[in-house]
Amino acid sequence: MRHKVTLIPGEGIGPEVAGAVRRILEAAGVQIDWEEVEARAEKASASGQFVTEGAVESVRRNHVALKGPMGTAIAGGAPSINVALRKTLNLYANVRPVKNLPGVKSRFEDVDVVLIRENTEDLYSGLEHEVVPGVVESLKIITEKASTAIAQFAFKYAMREGRKKIHAIHKANIMKLSDGLFLKSIRVVAQQYPQIEYKEMIVDNACMQIVLNPQQFDMLLLPNLYGDVMSDLAAGLVGGLGVVGSANVGDEAAMFEAVHGTAPDIAGKGLANPTALLLSSIMMLDYLGERSAARRIEAALAKVHKEGKHITHDVGGKAGTTEFTDALISSLHAG
Ligand code: NAI
Repeated sequence: MRHKVTLIPGEGIGPEVAGAVRRILEAAGVQIDWEEVEARAEKASASGQFVTEGAVESVRRNHVALKGPMGTAIAGGAPSINVALRKTLNLYANVRPVKNLPGVKSRFEDVDVVLIRENTEDLYSGLEHEVVPGVVESLKIITEKASTAIAQFAFKYAMREGRKKIHAIHKANIMKLSDGLFLKSIRVVAQQYPQIEYKEMIVDNACMQIVLNPQQFDMLLLPNLYGDVMSDLAAGLVGGLGVVGSANVGDEAAMFEAVHGTAPDIAGKGLANPTALLLSSIMMLDYLGERSAARRIEAALAKVHKEGKHITHDVGGKAGTTEFTDALISSLHAG
């Protein structure tokens, strides 16, 4: 089956890693018509219109996007394209599978946990104001609607992917109303899925537990802020943001992205590691129903890392982007 996918290569090393991923997906026999959108923060007007308009329209049409990193202005400048896409297309679920990649050095083995983070509210609603000089207030918004939606997403994901257990992460002992509503909404959904074991854990304990014994977790379901923190913490257990994929998913569309930045220090030098964007593209293939190609690419990626002969500088090797990509494609053809 042919698929139409929006490709936002992004900036810095973005076009290099996106080019590598395109080659690998093509070598795996996946038929994709890419609609490339040149969204670059460096060309943005102060309003950000130029950056976001084309991308949003394209994703609306195609329903699926693969996105490289983009520079984000700090404290001012154009708005982030991620935020624009998430809000406009209501990509309410952030999915971050965290699993060891064979051959990649990490502190733990046998980690296999999926974090599902609510993507639209909590302290990220952007509702801040100054009460009186020297005192500011940020509003933490939790709704029954969004909490129920993310819970339904997580339990459906668990059923589809053969997962067994979900831990809801919270601080409802202190934030009794907001985190309390998050938990209450999840409990209602959990009752509809007796096949999935449901547990709750307070966020500070969960941070300790995942570092002491990550294997006890199967899936974590978190509100936005704890999800942001714990998904990077979990990535650190298996080697960092360079070796995990990420997706923002809604009912109408999904955007798969590398979570590292534009790496200006190595951009244009042919040194970038495409692994993170490739892992996100494997998630995209699963979403598109291309499961067999996804598993073959996963196996080839594991083989190249395990052999360790053609891995990139950032993971202790000597290869550049092209050598790594060539090795992966050879492994795909051999396998
Ligand atoms: P960064 O992730 O770009 O770089 C941190 C370090 O990791 C650098 O030494 C870089 O060379 C290395 N690195 C990152 N990705 C790599 C890859 N695929 N292969 C090999 N080495 C890699 O983070 P930094 O320097 O804090 O941010 C640079 C720019 O990227 C900023 O403008 C920031 O706003 C933006 N950014 C964008 C993100 C996105 O679009 N999702 C996420 C994070 C940062």
